[in-house]
Amino acid sequence: MTQSAVRPSVDWRALAAEVADDVVTWRRHLHRHPELSFQEHATADFVAQQLEAFGGLELRRPTATSVVAVLRGASPGPVLGVRADMDALPIEEESGVPFASENPGVMHACGHDGHTAILLGVAKVLSARRESVRGELHFLFQHAEELFPGGAQELVDVGVLDGIDQVIGLHLMAPVPSGALLLRAGPTMAAPDTFAITVRGRGGHAAMPETAVDPVAIGAQIVTNLQHLVSRTVDPLEPLVVSVTKFHAGTADNVIPETAELAGTVRSFDAALRDRMPELMERVIEGITEAHGAGYEFAYQRGYRALVNDAAVTERLREAFEAAFGPERVATAPRIMGGEDFSAYLAVKPGTFFMVGAKPPGVETAYPHHHPRFTIDEAALAVGVQAFLTGIEALTSA
Ligand code: NI
Repeated sequence: MTQSAVRPSVDWRALAAEVADDVVTWRRHLHRHPELSFQEHATADFVAQQLEAFGGLELRRPTATSVVAVLRGASPGPVLGVRADMDALPIEEESGVPFASENPGVMHACGHDGHTAILLGVAKVLSARRESVRGELHFLFQHAEELFPGGAQELVDVGVLDGIDQVIGLHLMAPVPSGALLLRAGPTMAAPDTFAITVRGRGGHAAMPETAVDPVAIGAQIVTNLQHLVSRTVDPLEPLVVSVTKFHAGTADNVIPETAELAGTVRSFDAALRDRMPELMERVIEGITEAHGAGYEFAYQRGYRALVNDAAVTERLREAFEAAFGPERVATAPRIMGGEDFSAYLAVKPGTFFMVGAKPPGVETAYPHHHPRFTIDEAALAVGVQAFLTGIEALTSA
């Protein structure tokens, strides 16, 4: 395909600019009223209200807190899914923005408020231009990205992806310069699994360890030896993270406790390696506890799949973005060990998930996603709208 084939036929930048104020207003409303995963009732109602006001969209509520809006174009063509996630996080906001969360302990600290507002902006622009839309656009306002088993899998399970040919989504990225667009073909985000370990020792007097089986000392060995899986057991060219993030034991400085509770996360890309991890981990846990006369319980929970972007869709979007934004704005996304439940869509349909830089202006190092002081550059919202519009045209044009 030549680059001219994907050169935008419409000034999407100008159309994105026309809805930019609305998008900021919607984003601030959502930011002020965040809701946790699977509890996005007011958010879904708000989204549905806006979509109804645009007119020309067929609305559905496939689950309690998700909204799907279908725009049937005037001419036949492919069916494209465009997704925004809508949920917030259990974090007490400290950003200091004037539209900070009014819901104590809950915060849009990952930018999903921005994603939702961006997709509303896209729906507003295109619902007013139905005559020039080819095929069908399914705007997927998805609940519960942040909490396993995730809203994406639920939407797949109830058939929302049926009949869709391709699916795209985006994530605002606070660490990336505002307005930059990052794409990557193939494996891009990791499978985030979790685990919990109980070390069953025997409590006793701290001064007489010979009468006890110390779960703290044994747990410490487990923490250390799990890292040997990463550094000594697995192909060093294959990305893998094992992080023990919880270690709870004991109540006093002179008591050896009965048990120690450990938990953490495993991040991987390779499906075969991922399948092996529970067994590899249990071998370490079983060996160490047995060597020291302790028992154990081990639970391993599989989270989202690794996110694997389709090469052809990614390339088509990259060409379109380079033509629309200039090649200097477009780069290859790094692989990251973070997870994303958009992978559930990509397991059943080809598509791509790209990043939009949203580093706040005048900031050297942005607060990371999921931080109480997380903020985004709102100018990136219009870039997101333009990127979706550009991508939609590239994927639905003949
Ligand atoms: Ni997120």
